[in-house]
Amino acid sequence: MCGIVGYIGNKEASPILIDGLKKLEYRGYDSAGIAVYHNESLQITKTKGRLVALEEKLQGNELTGSVGIGHTRWATHGAPSDVNSHPHGNSTQTIAVVHNGIIENYLTLKEELQADGVVFLSETDTEVAAHLVDLYYNQCGDLIDAVIKTMGRIEGSYALGVVCRDHPDLLVAARKDSPLIVGLGKGENFVASDIPAILQYTRDIYLLDDHEIAVVTRDDIKIINRNKEEVKKEIYKVTWDVAAAEKGGYEHFMLKEIFEQPKAVRDTLLPRLPQNKEEIVLDDIKLSQKELEKINKIYIVACGTAYYAGLIGKYLIERVGRIPVVAEVASEFRYRDPIMDENTLLILVSQSGETADTVAAMRRAKKAGARVLGVVNVVGSTIAREADDLLYTWAGPEIAVASTKAYSTQVVAMYLIACHIAMETGKMSTAEFIELRKELHTIPDKIDEILKQADKLKEYADHYMSSKNVFYIGRGLDFAVSMEGSLKLKEIAYVHSEPYAAGELKHGPIALIEDGTLVIGIVSQEELFDKTVSNLREVKARGAKILAIAQEGHTEIEKTADDVIYVPRTHWMFTPILANIPQQLFAYYMATGLGHDVDKPRNLAKSVTVE
Ligand code: AGP
Repeated sequence: MCGIVGYIGNKEASPILIDGLKKLEYRGYDSAGIAVYHNESLQITKTKGRLVALEEKLQGNELTGSVGIGHTRWATHGAPSDVNSHPHGNSTQTIAVVHNGIIENYLTLKEELQADGVVFLSETDTEVAAHLVDLYYNQCGDLIDAVIKTMGRIEGSYALGVVCRDHPDLLVAARKDSPLIVGLGKGENFVASDIPAILQYTRDIYLLDDHEIAVVTRDDIKIINRNKEEVKKEIYKVTWDVAAAEKGGYEHFMLKEIFEQPKAVRDTLLPRLPQNKEEIVLDDIKLSQKELEKINKIYIVACGTAYYAGLIGKYLIERVGRIPVVAEVASEFRYRDPIMDENTLLILVSQSGETADTVAAMRRAKKAGARVLGVVNVVGSTIAREADDLLYTWAGPEIAVASTKAYSTQVVAMYLIACHIAMETGKMSTAEFIELRKELHTIPDKIDEILKQADKLKEYADHYMSSKNVFYIGRGLDFAVSMEGSLKLKEIAYVHSEPYAAGELKHGPIALIEDGTLVIGIVSQEELFDKTVSNLREVKARGAKILAIAQEGHTEIEKTADDVIYVPRTHWMFTPILANIPQQLFAYYMATGLGHDVDKPRNLAKSVTVE
């Protein structure tokens, strides 16, 4: 969602802010702006649209100065417009604020401020924060106290960056429920909502926790709590390379990340499956065998693609671990009254580790006494820090909004967790595990094999480009896979599509099948092959065109399907990770063929940090 960058140092702030914001473009945004201290005043330039529009506006009106804050906005309160863009200022423009998150009580605060004569320029919730900081600053004369008092008034989530005309040597940042980091430089320091924004300047960062305030000058960073007590923080060293967050010759981040999957899967898998041990090494899962044996119910909770990876986990854990599993989207889970106690395990799946609903689900489960296991990609993220047990998916930075390599590594995590549970509770023998491990080691090469068919998938995408409605159908694990395929097509190609359990079609949706409707049939599950093929025949009889994804050797599918993509044969548990790769490529080529910017799909954000 929104991006924040702050700079204080001896260089020109403006290019550093813009450059940092560019690195955050992948998060999704609709407007951008910066505020820079110059000549004893704060100069704010902001605009609706992309960063190029901001750069155009700045041409000839460059903001010179070495302290500033920048923001890319993803609209929540008020449409994308120049005036609703951040930074927002107080009435005298002596204070500028950027904000990620949602101020839930902003209307009450706004009315209160208006009653005191404050005039609001925008429709945003953020402007309230600017005026509150101003109000308290005028009362107490201390900017830090003013920010702390403002934090005390705000309900909701925030990552705040604040600069003030009276303090040209100070940058203040604070967070609650929205990510914020502080980068340590030499004679310069940084604030950002995500690492790529500042990675070219520093690898040493502080990860702010909720209710913490960073008091940042050129030569010093102090992290304090709301009582102004200093908080000792460890420096987190970023180990991944700047190149990992660059396109590296690919046309889009999404394509690069699709092709990175063999490596991402290897990195996630290999350290956990040492050849010399007959066990899965999950260092950050502290759940003992005894504790695991007491678990009588598992919830897998996540959003979007991460939820679809979680669905695979449900099928697998139930089948090999024999513990009942409910998989549910976090936005629903958090607002109903799920039955949880100390014998419940909640598995959260999240690439970013910051998704607002997933974080809320975690906190709710912890309150109810459940054990929480996070499957997370971003190191040091909120879920990574707050979960009781942790399994990192080592996918590396995923920049494209459409998740690809993160999904594959999340599915790997589900394999590891399901096998771990099954072995620890005596449902899987060592011999069975060794067989599975052998097969798991072949998966990265098998993904490579599928990627070699990219041209063929492009041909199919070109061929079916005019489709307006697409069905994805499958049974069992294939049904879970079909949901991810359908989501990918929707989010980047903007083509309406529906995933359906193949056997459920005739209970209604088959009425929508007409001449030429594209049905993508996932038939990678050996034991359900015939059943799904029967359902494919039913839609074919009603005029559908069928593109099937099947395991090598199942050539009889060609009698039913118009087109087929084959994936290498594997154990039934591991077909989802393979069957999904053609879906990613198909969606990618549909989207590029239709002329869409796949890395920045409309209305979407990479990390959904608001409800
Ligand atoms: C995937 O392509 C989507 N962009 C989206 O569904 C995403 O998976 C979801 O928002 C969850 O994000 P998370 O993994 O960071 O929690």
